[in-house]
Amino acid sequence: MTLAVRYTSARTLDIAPIETSAPGPGEVELAPAYVGICGTDLHIFHGDMDARVSTPAVLGHEMSGRVVRVGPDVEGWRPGDAVTVMPLRWDDSCPACRSGHQHICQHLDFIGIDSPGAMQQRWTVPAATLVRLPGSLPLDRAALVEPTAVAVHDVGRAGVRDGEKMVVVGGGPVGVLIALVARATGADVRVVELSAHRRLLAEELGLIAWDPTDVDVPDLVRHWTGDAGADVAFEVSGAAGGVDTAVEVLGVRGRLCLVAIHPKPREINLHRFFWRELTLVGARLYDRSDFEQAVSLVADGTVPAERLISKVVSLAEAPSAFEALEATGDVMKILVECGDEQQGARA
Ligand SMILES: NC(=O)c1ccc[n+]([C@@H]2O[C@H](COP(=O)([O-])OP(=O)(O)OC[C@H]3O[C@@H](n4cnc5c(N)ncnc54)[C@H](O)[C@@H]3O)[C@@H](O)[C@H]2O)c1
Ligand SMILES: [Zn+2]
Repeated sequence: MTLAVRYTSARTLDIAPIETSAPGPGEVELAPAYVGICGTDLHIFHGDMDARVSTPAVLGHEMSGRVVRVGPDVEGWRPGDAVTVMPLRWDDSCPACRSGHQHICQHLDFIGIDSPGAMQQRWTVPAATLVRLPGSLPLDRAALVEPTAVAVHDVGRAGVRDGEKMVVVGGGPVGVLIALVARATGADVRVVELSAHRRLLAEELGLIAWDPTDVDVPDLVRHWTGDAGADVAFEVSGAAGGVDTAVEVLGVRGRLCLVAIHPKPREINLHRFFWRELTLVGARLYDRSDFEQAVSLVADGTVPAERLISKVVSLAEAPSAFEALEATGDVMKILVECGDEQQGARA
């Protein structure tokens, strides 16, 4: 038996004991140590993803933990190993997979959305999803590897280069991680964010953050860039207003990288795309090389993951943490501690 945090219906989570069984061939049983609550988990909690999620659904896909048991035929992993999980399972046969884009397989199983996630005391996953963590990396920080891998992928998709001027619209965890990863590649970054708390945190990390309700963002960008406009903008807010800002700040031949999930179609100023020869690039998830780079960036402190962790709650407190996250913008990342990291290490 394992205790799990489950989504049952819009705005309702419960904590329930569920059956576990020994890991099968090619599988590994993990003891999750920390699991992050992400913007996508909140979309599920709101009921926005009911068409996709079958209930009751165990949530969680940003995690760190330890191997407890390995199934038959699994090589290279031992109980106690510190790991994170790249939570994707693909069919390897669809046109997307055959053209080398397994991470956006046309039949992708995103573990934690389409199948049971990590917010439980024991979690069985395919061994192929495991990513090794350096022993020196504390497991709470390692829970931020997955969103950092998103940021690494996005910065790569946008082709950010040294010296480019870029604007990140939406300074939540993903937006701030994009800003940090891009800064490490030499970009000059501005973050646009509504929440004063999140702007302050971005500034403490050495970023410049603007309040779009207080300043004229396109005007500031014109001054900053000598009337040229930004080279790159990232839309990470998921809001209609954020889309407008991201389009308006771009200069000639600018690239707009779309990261946020927009639950409905948005109006967009296409004339601007014509006039300035802009490019729109979608960015979804990550591949293994993004994940491995993310482990390095978190481990060497380029991404100071510990600064993004606002709070750590127990499994039992997870439902109220979801409610708190949606009620206030005064937090960045909340981690759920699944309880028995020490026991996992000894198993
Ligand atoms: N592409 C992917 O693979 C991928 C992966 C993870 C998350 N996401 C999506 O990326 C988005 C960001 O994730 P997150 O966890 O940081 O979410 P989040 O909701 O915590 O952050 C969004 C931020 O945007 C800010 N915001 C809202 N409207 C704004 C506006 N008009 N101007 C400026 N800022 C505004 C909010 O205050 C908030 O801080 C979500 O939509 C999430 O679902 C996409
Ligand atoms: Zn496929």
